[in-house]
Amino acid sequence: MKVAVLTGGGDCPGLNAVIRAIVRRASIHGFEVMGLREGWRGLLEDSHFRLTRETTSGILHRGGTILGTSRVNPFKVENGLEKVMHTVERNQIAGIIAIGGEGTLSAASQLHQKGLKVVGIPKTIDNDLNGTDFTFGFDTAVGIATEAIDRLHSTAESHKRVIVVEVMGRHVGWIATYSGIAGGADVILVPEIPVELDKVAEHIHRRHSTGRSFSIVVVAEGTRIKTADNESEHLVTSGQTDEAGRPRLGGVGAYVAQEIERRTGYETRVSVLGHIQRGGIPTAWDRVLATRFGVHGCDMVSRGEWGRMAALRGNEIVSVELATATASLKRVSQEFFEVAQVFFG
Ligand code: F6P
Repeated sequence: MKVAVLTGGGDCPGLNAVIRAIVRRASIHGFEVMGLREGWRGLLEDSHFRLTRETTSGILHRGGTILGTSRVNPFKVENGLEKVMHTVERNQIAGIIAIGGEGTLSAASQLHQKGLKVVGIPKTIDNDLNGTDFTFGFDTAVGIATEAIDRLHSTAESHKRVIVVEVMGRHVGWIATYSGIAGGADVILVPEIPVELDKVAEHIHRRHSTGRSFSIVVVAEGTRIKTADNESEHLVTSGQTDEAGRPRLGGVGAYVAQEIERRTGYETRVSVLGHIQRGGIPTAWDRVLATRFGVHGCDMVSRGEWGRMAALRGNEIVSVELATATASLKRVSQEFFEVAQVFFG
């Protein structure tokens, strides 16, 4: 039986750990594993190579993905569905394991409805996939952001500055909230709650008037800013779009920094962590989660659990409907955010 594996969407630490686990488990089931190049593009263009124990050895700790990735969506390509099905038939692929985030797994769910035998494995540093308590990649990204906040604390204190740290998080503020709590940030701004800059400035002003000489503000890149009349809100984008046609984010940190300085008069700087959060070696926790997902995903294939996704519930790996997991995003709850708010009012 031949199983094909792909990694789609933004990369994250732990992808190679999943690929390695799938190949190891597959050898126990007696499956042959084919690696599809660059996400769905590999199926559209019939581009793949054989994955073996030898070719996947020594990759557990490596960041990125040996398969390459893209945000290509078969439903946005002319005759995409036919091309996908043709590759599957021509190569006698019995099933596909799609490792991806919201975009890749939504396409997987739609393809399943059209007859593709597919199992999903959730990945993303953003941790915004529903149906799973955590995605791998998130813990590594939080660790990187927390270390950055720790480092920025000392320089902010020396210079009596406000430092705004922009972290990733397109639709949700999990990285901002976790790293902000772990790093002791003074303000955390997330996409779930549109920001009133006057209130942020007031808070920083109050803090500094009670003897503090510096502040750290963590802002997720997808945070929307309320207009002066509070009637509407806007997203700060780079003005460009990505491969999937979505606005490329980035810039909200600089905007918030400029507005804080203008409103408070305190010297303010910005640090944008960007893709540093996605690169490099995965934490031990992400490696373990990725490995468990890989083994479980392969077992789901052997049981024919098509149209489902491996997921973490508590400390158990379970499987959930792909359609349910991709129907909406997992946002930071008010209850969770209130823990962070205890420290910045
Ligand atoms: O999807 C994860 C993510 O890290 C988002 O937070 C971010 O908006 C996006 O990837 C940026 O990805 P890229 O620059 O690779 O298009």
